[in-house]
Amino acid sequence: MVDRYSHMCYLYGNSNTKRKDGMALIRFGVSLDSKLSEDFDKWCAANAYDNRSEAIRDLIRDNLVKDEWSSAKGDVTGVITLVYDHHKRELLDGLISIQHDHQGLIIASQHIHLDHNNCLEVIIVKGRSKEIGRLASKLRAAKGVKHGELVATTTGSNIK
Ligand code: NI
Repeated sequence: MVDRYSHMCYLYGNSNTKRKDGMALIRFGVSLDSKLSEDFDKWCAANAYDNRSEAIRDLIRDNLVKDEWSSAKGDVTGVITLVYDHHKRELLDGLISIQHDHQGLIIASQHIHLDHNNCLEVIIVKGRSKEIGRLASKLRAAKGVKHGELVATTTGSNIK
């Protein structure tokens, strides 16, 4: 069967190389113009990569995780962070109600008192990406939430 990406990647060499887990190690060449290559090396240095291979592996994984999130298949995981002023009682009740309405998605949550006024809540979620997206949007949109973020990550089962 012809892989649908085979026209983009020319794989050669060394299917004899195996990692400890038995997975074959594939090497492939990438052609870049000198400016892009220079920019990439600068980016690698700025992001603490010792070598290009690990940087490219991480960029590929980032995109595979993005694919997982945009396709409807399987569960994904994520972390929702919220910063808010706990003096706003209605906000607190609202955030708790929203979480109870979506308790099937929430694995764990932690509340940290940042200072006299401000709280940081960290909510760890697992489930369908669309449902997680909806939950994060509702929490972020609650009036009084100063900052809300969703870190979209993977269950890891489809990523090597
Ligand atoms: Ni607090």
